[in-house]
Amino acid sequence: MAVTLAFDVYGTLIDTHGVVLELEKLVGDRAPDFSRCWREKQLEYSFRRGLMQNYQSFAVCTKDALDYTCEFFRADISPAQKDHLLEAYRVLPAFDDVEEGLQRAKKSGFRMFAFSNGSPEAVTMLLVAAGIRDLFDGVVSVDEIKSFKPNPAVYSHFLRRSGSTGSEAWMISSNPFDVIGAVSAGMRAAWVRRSPAMVYDPWGIDPTLTVAGLDELADQVSAYRGVSDS
Ligand code: 2OP
Repeated sequence: MAVTLAFDVYGTLIDTHGVVLELEKLVGDRAPDFSRCWREKQLEYSFRRGLMQNYQSFAVCTKDALDYTCEFFRADISPAQKDHLLEAYRVLPAFDDVEEGLQRAKKSGFRMFAFSNGSPEAVTMLLVAAGIRDLFDGVVSVDEIKSFKPNPAVYSHFLRRSGSTGSEAWMISSNPFDVIGAVSAGMRAAWVRRSPAMVYDPWGIDPTLTVAGLDELADQVSAYRGVSDS
């Protein structure tokens, strides 16, 4: 059976800190810290909504997190400026290694899906803007079952939707919580460690393999399969 790759979107394919230049115009040299806080709150809100079973779309988590971050930084950002930032968030750029990495994976014969907390429309818009939508066989979103990663139900949903089984399905993610969630739910997973400064959660639930960028992915997954099949 062909191996299926589930690519996480925000933070793995798409650079969530791509708004820093826009933020610099509004908060100056606090932009990197502002961007980090915004992303952390966005994820925290998704975790909390998942646990509380109080689902709202990831776009709502993003908007609420922006409001929180503006308050936290006492940033004087008008409603129109917030709308502008949220628009920029809908067309964030891909990381530099993404297109080549995806092309290589496609040539290696893997089935490829984007699998995200984002809604199907939001994810499709990002992938089209980044010029990489055509490299995927499909988009699977947690929105289809109204929960968020790392609820095990969303990984089961991915397997059902993509018609794959756990041992032949790989989560590809730079987010350790997503890697741990996928492995706990029976998938394999590659952690994309984009910088040596990234720290993995010490839970004893390790990624199947670790890559420094997507350009290494296809070779490493193929090599792992070669060894584990022999
Ligand atoms: C995504 O699902 C976790 O934000 C990440 O795209």
